[in-house]
Amino acid sequence: MLQRLRSRDVVKMFRTAAQTFSVASLPRRVLLITLRHFCNKAPRKLRVAELLSGTGLEANVQVQGWVRSVRSQKANLFVDVNDGSCLQSLQIVASPELNDPLLTFGSAVEVRGILKKSLHPKQAVELEAEHIHVVGECNPLDFPFKIKERHTLEYIRQFPHLRGRTNAFGSLLRIRGEATWALHSYFKENGFAHIHTPIITSNDCEGAGELFQIEPSYPQNSQDENFFSVPAYLTVSGQLHLEVMTGSFSKVYTFGPTFRAENSQSRRHLAEFYMVEAEVAFTRTIEDLTEVMEDMFKRTTEHVLDCCARDVDLFHTHVTPGHRDAVEAMLKERFHVLTYSEAINILQRSTQTFAFPTNWGCDLKTEHEKYLVKHCGTRPVFVTDYPYRLKPFYTRDNRDHPRHTAAAVDLLVPGVGELCGGSLREERLDLLRARLEEVGLEDTYSWYLDLRRFGSVSHGGFGMGFERYLQCILGVDNIKDVIPFPRFSHSCLL
Ligand code: 4AD
Repeated sequence: MLQRLRSRDVVKMFRTAAQTFSVASLPRRVLLITLRHFCNKAPRKLRVAELLSGTGLEANVQVQGWVRSVRSQKANLFVDVNDGSCLQSLQIVASPELNDPLLTFGSAVEVRGILKKSLHPKQAVELEAEHIHVVGECNPLDFPFKIKERHTLEYIRQFPHLRGRTNAFGSLLRIRGEATWALHSYFKENGFAHIHTPIITSNDCEGAGELFQIEPSYPQNSQDENFFSVPAYLTVSGQLHLEVMTGSFSKVYTFGPTFRAENSQSRRHLAEFYMVEAEVAFTRTIEDLTEVMEDMFKRTTEHVLDCCARDVDLFHTHVTPGHRDAVEAMLKERFHVLTYSEAINILQRSTQTFAFPTNWGCDLKTEHEKYLVKHCGTRPVFVTDYPYRLKPFYTRDNRDHPRHTAAAVDLLVPGVGELCGGSLREERLDLLRARLEEVGLEDTYSWYLDLRRFGSVSHGGFGMGFERYLQCILGVDNIKDVIPFPRFSHSCLL
């Protein structure tokens, strides 16, 4: 249909031109274009990234995308087109006759022409246009983004339905996609089985009570009957389901959305965020876990810096200047390790005044985490062996320690604070049963106790907040700027 329409257009254009001018007086370019239309077969449809790599040189090609700039000069019309395949736009060079009042910043276009080597030092190729079709117009006065203006992340956040059209958010989404791929391939290369843990669950893994309960939107037959016959929630963590699977697969991981009903407006909390979680059987020490955490962080980051160089560079140059050095420093050195007790000593010896207490037994707050990271030379730091009472029921009891601690670890990183949380799990049936009885959960978790009853092994795992990871490597201050559609209390746009 499109092809038929185009041929009709060309015939009409040719007839009109022939009636208006003698053929000899037609501009050479218009004549060539018209003749090519009759001789050529359908153009090859290519993406901007492919075209910029030199694919299709001298061939009749078609590109589709959105206009990033239009410059009309006497001899030529220049249009930059971007289709999301890469940060760079493709420059279209056209005869001024192909200009159209609807060809504006933000409009959607289809361009056909010949891909040529460019003489311009900033680009290797350009598309010499034969035909430009405005598919979807865009009134630049109403469009919230303005040509040549560098909008802040905060400004574009107001337009979640349009911000993918900006350079910064386009880059962010490509980096996010590549980092997702890199994490999956890290686990695959290291022999982990990928498990789809459920989104709907009847357990509160972390025991913090920050659950979103789910029920159908339509009225139930009986007032007190739950759809699943038990209260059901959106998952806060896939850990317990991974523990089930680690009992037969040894090394497992999951990577999906998790939900916390935290009434927080902070720059590092969301109600829906992505978490990558791993669980490893026959793991006896916290070091076995910190090794995987550090290796996963470093290999994934190296991959992203390598494969998304231009996109990352946009952030490190324009959004968070200087952050590149911080990331490279994190990759070069070994992460620091501190016990919780050492961390408390450091905080108590500090001359800084903290808003929250720093006595042994207190939870570490953001201000404490920030101080500890700085104290360790602004590099990531593992804090291990937290007070037993601060950690959830599944955490392994460090019975042999002089102070009552749990074999738990958090990874703190510059600018963000806590990036990962993990622990060895209590694999001893009697200790786990006693802890569950103490918190009144022995019936709820009878299946969990079974895992210790039938072939129990020492094991452990961790979870890394994916948005916090992106904040950390890109230096982005607000977590809402690293996820396509942020959800937080009082906000669920789109
Ligand atoms: O420390 P958390 O709560 O650990 C767990 O959920 C464990 N069950 C994971 C495991 O061992 N398999 O959460 C893990 C990480 C945090 O370190 C943080 O990076 C991120 O998840 N996170 C959040 N990210 C964004 N918004 C929130 N509300 C978050 N809560 C936790």
